[in-house]
Amino acid sequence: MKKHNLNSLNPAKFADLIKNRELSVSSADAAYPLAEFSPNTLANSLHPKKQKLRITEISDFKNCKAFKLSGQCACFTAGQYINVYVNIDGKVCSRPYSLASSPKDASDGFYQIAVKAVDGGLVSNYILQNWSVGTLVEVSDPIGNFTYEPLRDCKNVVGIAGGSGITPFMSLAKSVLEGSEDFNLTILYGCRKEEDILFRFELDSLAEKCDRLKVIYVLSEECKEGFEQGNISYELVKKYAPKGEFSVFICGPEGMTRFVDKELELLDFERKFIRHEVHGETVSPSNFEDYPQNVPEIISITVWNKGESKLIKASPAAPVVRILEQNGINPPTRCRSGECGFCHSRLISGEVFIPKELNKLRQADNKFGFIHPCCSYPLTDIEIEIS
Ligand code: FES
Repeated sequence: MKKHNLNSLNPAKFADLIKNRELSVSSADAAYPLAEFSPNTLANSLHPKKQKLRITEISDFKNCKAFKLSGQCACFTAGQYINVYVNIDGKVCSRPYSLASSPKDASDGFYQIAVKAVDGGLVSNYILQNWSVGTLVEVSDPIGNFTYEPLRDCKNVVGIAGGSGITPFMSLAKSVLEGSEDFNLTILYGCRKEEDILFRFELDSLAEKCDRLKVIYVLSEECKEGFEQGNISYELVKKYAPKGEFSVFICGPEGMTRFVDKELELLDFERKFIRHEVHGETVSPSNFEDYPQNVPEIISITVWNKGESKLIKASPAAPVVRILEQNGINPPTRCRSGECGFCHSRLISGEVFIPKELNKLRQADNKFGFIHPCCSYPLTDIEIEIS
């Protein structure tokens, strides 16, 4: 190996350093070089802010469709989601959808997401009615923390899924099979009826091919041989959980998540081993026990955006972010459930209701009056400044 010896340096060269630099600067072209700084190009391709992908395949399920989005897909970690942007009557809205495909699929040029019909669901129903093979769609880069971390999570994971909450587990299961994740996954998948199960064929064939994967279907409204019946209780978790320590990952509708959380309290294991994926808005604040009574039927919101203000009158029964979007204002959003902090905005005056389980504000946010509009419901007239 070549050794650098300080004694071999010529101090005279340093005397000319400034002069030589000035010569280089003065002889350089005044035009800004067109070439891009290659680390920036690489960073943009790995983490593009937006991606344009084309729908190349649609699979139909009961009340749900799975879309294959093809193109140059940014890489991700199994369990993450993308935000989908749609323009409905001139108003841009976005919603997060977990990726059901694996990171390897992304490197092969596609993602897969599942969109379920929701009563009164603005974006989901728009997508189900308007997207077809060939449609060009705009999505964000993959984001989210519902991922397996070997330093934090146990080698054995019990995944509890409800309805379309199966999608991140599809991605995790495929990654275990493909070898990009190294843990054992037991999925307890709750649905109302057998016909409501999504990705049944794929889940069964994944479990067949890999002895690190197990899938148990739990039907709440049907009693059938080969299925567990009822809700996903702590007894059921105990029955299928592997021996020793295990982590629990939960993704599904609010009602199921709350039920499972209560059940898990009956099992003796540490809270740090429980992980949730709750992206997506809560439909109505009255679903929360601590939502106050006597909230006015109509409230005013004064919104400050880039130095300009707008006054909105609306029903308080929706999160602030949804009210803003309905009025043509698009604050930045990602998870829409208080998790990512992307919609962080300043509450100048007024009062909002933030459900306990969605309140991820930091002490500094409380001190300086910041909220997450995606999970804050106005209780009075409010004034807010969005970023
Ligand atoms: S969009 Fe993630 S916290 Fe509001």
